[in-house]
Amino acid sequence: MSDEHMTSSDIEVHWREEEYINSPASFVAQANLTDPTIYERFNLDNFPHYFTEYAELLDWYQKWDRVLDDSNPPFWRWFTGGQINAAYNCVDRHLPALQSKVAYYFVSEREDDPVQSLTYRELYWRVNEFAAILRDFAGVQKGDRVTIHMPMVPELPIAMLACARLGAMHSVVFGGFSGQACADRIIDSQSRILVTMDGYYRNGKWLDHKEKADVAVARAAEVGQPVDKVLIFERHWGQYGGSPLVEGRDFLVSQLAPRYRGQVVEPEPMPGEAPLFLMYTSGSTGKPKGIQHGTAGYLSYAAATSKYVLDIQPDDVYWCMADIGWITGHSYIVYGPLALGATSVLYEGGPTYPDAGRPWRIAERLGVTIFHTSPTAIRSLRQFGEEIPQKYHYRFKLMATVGEPIEPDVWRWYFHVIGRGQAAVVDTWWQTETGGHLCSTIPAIKPMKPGSAGPGLPGIHPVVLDETGQEVAPGSGEGGYLCIRNPWPGIMQTIWGDPERYVRTYYGKYNKNPESKDWRDWPYMAGDGAMMAADGYLRILGRIDDVINVAGHRLGTKELESAVLTLDEVAEAAVVAAHDEIKGAMPEIYVSLHPGVEATPQLTQKIVDVIVRDIGPIARPRHVWVVPDLPKTRSGKIMRRILAAISDNREIGDVTTLANPEVVETIQKMARP
Ligand code: PRX
Repeated sequence: MSDEHMTSSDIEVHWREEEYINSPASFVAQANLTDPTIYERFNLDNFPHYFTEYAELLDWYQKWDRVLDDSNPPFWRWFTGGQINAAYNCVDRHLPALQSKVAYYFVSEREDDPVQSLTYRELYWRVNEFAAILRDFAGVQKGDRVTIHMPMVPELPIAMLACARLGAMHSVVFGGFSGQACADRIIDSQSRILVTMDGYYRNGKWLDHKEKADVAVARAAEVGQPVDKVLIFERHWGQYGGSPLVEGRDFLVSQLAPRYRGQVVEPEPMPGEAPLFLMYTSGSTGKPKGIQHGTAGYLSYAAATSKYVLDIQPDDVYWCMADIGWITGHSYIVYGPLALGATSVLYEGGPTYPDAGRPWRIAERLGVTIFHTSPTAIRSLRQFGEEIPQKYHYRFKLMATVGEPIEPDVWRWYFHVIGRGQAAVVDTWWQTETGGHLCSTIPAIKPMKPGSAGPGLPGIHPVVLDETGQEVAPGSGEGGYLCIRNPWPGIMQTIWGDPERYVRTYYGKYNKNPESKDWRDWPYMAGDGAMMAADGYLRILGRIDDVINVAGHRLGTKELESAVLTLDEVAEAAVVAAHDEIKGAMPEIYVSLHPGVEATPQLTQKIVDVIVRDIGPIARPRHVWVVPDLPKTRSGKIMRRILAAISDNREIGDVTTLANPEVVETIQKMARP
């Protein structure tokens, strides 16, 4: 957290209290979870035993003997003594009853391409085939890390499940991230194998994706982390379209596959608490952290929340528009829905390509009943007007939103226009670290409240704490730090390779006794500001650390600053989150240059380019401001909050305590003439 981070009294609360809206009766009549006593059963007095109900959703080689091993807080180990395999639970166990059921409809970005259906039986063979390649060709063993850098294609979940089948950990890197960002993750996780793809379509254009693998492998080699093999799927099987292959390092899966086809790779029985995957996410330092998730806890939690919050049922066609390269895709495109034997849509493209009617054409054509997206996507679709969705015949029973606060009027548009008032809406608050939803309504039990993520789910006990660790009373109208009193099965296990950072980041502020073996002394601090209403519903007010939430994607301001500071011309850099109508927030960068360096449009472009090169296009700043100096405290700390206020054209407040107050006016004149 930065030295000038917000305190709870800085957290602004400006939304008014909203009315309750009930879920449609037609939804309630068919819902998976309608018994309100679950909240009582999942009372803290029964913790952690109530979570056995979630573990029972899975098939075990051997059942656990402890629900929660909390002997070494805050390193929680769920369902220890048990033996389980995640891929078996997502694929094999469905074969007797569901082998011909569609697991994924793959929808190409190109609208003329036929929709591909992948049944559970086909998924089974594809996963076995790739597991055989990983094990017998690439030498992957239990516990190894495999980095997967891929776009939204069925081969991505196939590769993940193949790792899980072998007991290897996957580390999926969002396809839009740069080769450099991929390298950072390969290096940190010490992966020897990179799985990638030749290329893919984005807004109608073919992108060479494999060239990013070349950058990543070269960069990793420089720091002594050699990648032995790069396994390359082809977007069009057998028609390679990427940059040149490197002899002895790069291998096309289409050429290896015939040798391994039809081979059965028995799933590895893994301890319940064995790590399943890493997912890197941004925090307050320049280095992304490898969030480590376990097998049985994570999978049972993803399955249970898919069942009870998303209400996925056997006949549903479920579509989550997120990317599998983020945690939402891991939990709610891959593990949760597959564990339930659901049929899902996997869509390669963006929501408004080639036009804003695309999502509704897909929904109409495939009979989508559950739709899951982000506030940014809703805001961007809303711009095109309500006539567009009205043209199409689809009927959603439930719609979910995730990733950012949704403004009440955007929520209403989602409910009335997209959902036609016939679908229940769940606003699900959670994080990469939490594995699955933590705060949301259970749609058939609790009413909806636009702009609020709902109360804690059954068994999740949120609390808002002030700076000193005192509870902020629900209904007081005050904001504070959102914490969860108890661990839950989906909670992260640690930060890969940095357990101290794990303890410090999530528990450092509120744990008063590091020796304590009592989970009650270890509330989990989420890093979000929030306000709890008298009814326990939470309004999420946004990050309280140096993280910017751009279109629901977490970017660390320090990561952007480090990229800019690699340029010789730049003396200092500060990145702030500026409000954006569609994306929620966008980065703006303030830089000062070394003496004698001239501010030119070329230099501004160079600054943008280095960010895109090191991180990826999602981090592209909205503005680069080259300024004479950055506002600083007397102890030399950059006051990013003042810069953010300038970017948003907000009141700046008193600057007289700064070391260089005069610079504020200069910057204001430049940025807001
Ligand atoms: O600030 C919160 C915001 O997204 C952050 C987590 O980002 P990430 O780990 O990338 O996971 C995103 C998908 C779960 C949170 O700290 N956030 C997530 N969901 C909501 C939200 N903010 C408001 N309302 C939500 N429903």
